[in-house]
Amino acid sequence: MRKTSELIWQDTQHQILFELIDQLKTVETGLDIFTKLADYAESHFSLEESYMLKLNYPRTEEHIRAHNKFREELNAMTLDQHKFDEQVRESISLFLREWLTRHIFGIDKDFEAFVLNSDYK
Ligand SMILES: [Fe+2]
Ligand SMILES: [Fe+2]
Repeated sequence: MRKTSELIWQDTQHQILFELIDQLKTVETGLDIFTKLADYAESHFSLEESYMLKLNYPRTEEHIRAHNKFREELNAMTLDQHKFDEQVRESISLFLREWLTRHIFGIDKDFEAFVLNSDYK
């Protein structure tokens, strides 16, 4: 089977997450962006987690804990969104971007390498 240097679906979904996080800081986007982001993040995390469980990935528990932290943050934001002004949205966007970058270059990279070395892509 052909080995690629990256996991295509994972990379594409990360790009979309970054786009949604960027949209979040523009007030013109409307508040449903919080729900959209939370929904998209949920489907992305669930997909990664289903691969982890299927492949017996050794850091599954740690990785799911990290996702859960992000889920909690996003859920809290979805509830509070009506209070957010432009500045708050900007700082939330920055915070999420930093979190996601750390996650992607940290444990997601480890998971990606693990999947690429398996027969599942
Ligand atoms: Fe990810
Ligand atoms: Fe992840």
